[in-house]
Amino acid sequence: MTLENTLSIIKPDATRRNLTGAINAKFEEQGLRIIAQKRLQLTRTQAEKFYEVHKERPFYGELVDFMISGPVVAQVLSGENAVLKNREIMGETNPANAADGTIRKEFAESIEANSVHGSDSLENAVNEINYFFSGIEIVG
Ligand code: CMP
Repeated sequence: MTLENTLSIIKPDATRRNLTGAINAKFEEQGLRIIAQKRLQLTRTQAEKFYEVHKERPFYGELVDFMISGPVVAQVLSGENAVLKNREIMGETNPANAADGTIRKEFAESIEANSVHGSDSLENAVNEINYFFSGIEIVG
């Protein structure tokens, strides 16, 4: 049994359509606990820094524009194997390839407006959680 924390971001396409609760229900129904959560309007600099790993990718500029186009909800999700489990709950990056019942299959509009972000490894989860949250904001 490995209890992990992972970072989730509910993206602007989802907050615009008032889907925060519907997405949170998916996490909770499938055994993840939301142990920290805050709604933010990211600045360009903050979004650029968060997605720095994608800086050389052709979609980087549009991704940053999209992530600052409206509010996001940053979250820490906790549970057994939470990093992998969250990626299963989210579904494939491209909603066209996402499995039935996943967040991206049900809610995503496109590969860019794909409703949620989730950390892709435990190491990145630690770094991404530290980017958004201080220790006293995380209540397990
Ligand atoms: P996310 O998990 O937030 O990590 C990087 C994001 O880049 C990804 O989800 C997608 O929303 C976005 N993105 C936009 N275009 C592409 C693309 N062609 N390939 C992969 N990711 C893309």
